[in-house]
Amino acid sequence: MPEYEFPYRNPALPIEQRVDDLLKRMTLEEKVDQLMQITIGADTNPNNLGSGHSFRPTIGSVLSYCGGTRNRNAFQRLAVEETRLGIPIIWGFDVIHGWRTAFPIPLAQACSWNPDIVEAGCRVAARESYAEGVDWTFSPMLDVPHDPRWGRVMEGYGEDPLAAGIFGAAAVRGYQGEDPSQPGTVAACLKHFVGYAASEAGHDYAYTDISSRTLHETYLPPFQAAVEAGAMTLMSSFNDITGTPAVANHYTLTEVLRDRWHFRGFVVSDWDGVVQLAHQGYTTNPAEMCRAALSAGNDMEMNSSAYRNIPTLIESGRLKIEVVDEAVRRVLRIKFAKGLFEHPYHEEVDPGTVSLQPKALELSRAAARASMVLLKNEKNTLPLNPDTLRSIALIGPVATDREASAGAWPAIIDPKTIPTLQEVLPSFFPKSEIHYAPGCDYTSDSTEHFAEAIAAAEKSDLVIVAIGEGAGRTGENRSYTNIALPGKQLELLRKIAAVGRPVVLLVSSGRPILYPELEPLANAILHIWECGHGAAAGCCDILTGAYNPSGRLAITFPRSVGQIPIYYNHHPRARDEKAEWGGRYFDLDDSPMYPFGYGLSYTSYEYSDLEISVEDLTAQVTLRNTGKRAGRETVFWYLSDPEAKLTQPLRRLIAFEQVDLAPGEERRLTLQLDRMHDLAYIDPTGKKVFEPGRFILTVGGEKAEFVVAE
Ligand code: GLC
Repeated sequence: MPEYEFPYRNPALPIEQRVDDLLKRMTLEEKVDQLMQITIGADTNPNNLGSGHSFRPTIGSVLSYCGGTRNRNAFQRLAVEETRLGIPIIWGFDVIHGWRTAFPIPLAQACSWNPDIVEAGCRVAARESYAEGVDWTFSPMLDVPHDPRWGRVMEGYGEDPLAAGIFGAAAVRGYQGEDPSQPGTVAACLKHFVGYAASEAGHDYAYTDISSRTLHETYLPPFQAAVEAGAMTLMSSFNDITGTPAVANHYTLTEVLRDRWHFRGFVVSDWDGVVQLAHQGYTTNPAEMCRAALSAGNDMEMNSSAYRNIPTLIESGRLKIEVVDEAVRRVLRIKFAKGLFEHPYHEEVDPGTVSLQPKALELSRAAARASMVLLKNEKNTLPLNPDTLRSIALIGPVATDREASAGAWPAIIDPKTIPTLQEVLPSFFPKSEIHYAPGCDYTSDSTEHFAEAIAAAEKSDLVIVAIGEGAGRTGENRSYTNIALPGKQLELLRKIAAVGRPVVLLVSSGRPILYPELEPLANAILHIWECGHGAAAGCCDILTGAYNPSGRLAITFPRSVGQIPIYYNHHPRARDEKAEWGGRYFDLDDSPMYPFGYGLSYTSYEYSDLEISVEDLTAQVTLRNTGKRAGRETVFWYLSDPEAKLTQPLRRLIAFEQVDLAPGEERRLTLQLDRMHDLAYIDPTGKKVFEPGRFILTVGGEKAEFVVAE
């Protein structure tokens, strides 16, 4: 049995015992360092690592380092072998939808309604990023957006809290695996805690006026689900939550996260989140920033250094050492749980042997085709028949764009490794002549290439128009008042439609975009999002019918920006929305262009015979594939509670499942309802309240009312 110099070095001891032993050996300065996270650029000079930076080998964490495993290990060696206590650094990175193998942006993955796809993609991202020195990813993002002007809608899992929580939990399992102390796994970080998506007018970093009811009913549930899945860390958000900024919000960071959910990991601030308290009007005093954030429950400070005031605060009695110790304890607990003391160094492997492997690329393709959503298919324009289609015109900037497929937050994804539609299409249509023409770019007013595109359309039997937002229009700090496609793309589509050939429209975006003017100009429309390495092949799998599209929207697409915020689980008005005096718009159809849950298939489905047994609270419905193709249907179960002392949304999603059916096949589906999980509502204090009475269950257009007494 090896002797360990100190108990904290002994992996056989319980983590809490190792934390206690290490903590009591630490100086205050060493404790402060553990609560700081810095960047060190791309320092890759092994002879003077860290000399040009504020790098201190006793620092708690480094983020966004991409100088390779060898250099990351060299820095780590300074921490582990050349400091008094040898506490390893935890290395963080934004691995949001892939490291080198790009997966669909999270909003697209949510449209697959397949948590297994999310988990599998995160598993690949963990393996690939760990192989290049990452211990910790700042993902999954669990914000619930109602405003597509906000650029970060691309980064979460859509507008439904239940779905966001299910996908978030799947991401945690994917990143952390069965045992997060093992190599090849990374710690998850749930962000941005909490309510960031509620930013006013779609601005980023904005004030958020959130009632306690909305906080508990909409914004907290996805985080609770992912905490229960074992997430090791969270990131506090930039927004001011109704007067108390999230980074200094004791209610969310301690009363909810620790006291109620019993979360035992640590919370890192967002970039400069602590010192932004000045801009938010909270305090301009760095020591007060430090005291407020640390006391609220924000343990680690990203990038800024207000936490350097801890010794002064302790000396002046304005901060108790116990508060500091609790924060350090949480950080050490995760470092032990992550296995950093046992595996401080990552094996130096050739990234090419770990990343962009065939299985990962195949998974990216499967995720892409499952995430794309068929919005229109007039007269079964799709699928196309490669044996009979003699010529295809491929037009538009998306056809040759690799950047757009990479999406925002691309980690170290190299767009040059992403196949384009122009490169891939011929292999799916070997017998067809393909005439490519750019038509236009994304944003300029130039129409100089229209003629060439029109000519390509004129000599083809069918036209595929591939247009979109282009890279850089979504992500952090990318708010737009106009969410229509930019540039001259609509005009190009008009010209091509006028040629009179069947038009298949492919639209790539990171957010819901405006379709009212696009829709009439195409016979078929496939929303292809930004889907990574598998985007082009996954799209062609759908175009040829090799894959029957199964994507369903996880976020509402409005007809106009004037409708925002618009989302499915809104509350009823005082009058019937359809009535003349029902509060409708007088200049626009109130309904969304494409509602939450919308998506077409190459087959058709029929729901019938919905029955509810109140005795055992089971619901049953028959689902039948009434078409000629096998397909995967996502079954959405919605609950309405039309009479409640705390009024409820018109409907809310309480469960979803995916069913594969052969043509003509039918299945009797059963949902076991749970009184507290499904029928109870969340009150403004966050308590679940079951109120007996009348409920309505809706599934696939079938509706059944039932009463549950006491
Ligand atoms: C950014 C983002 C956050 C990210 C962090 C580190 O400002 O808000 O999502 O993880 O900084 O890059």
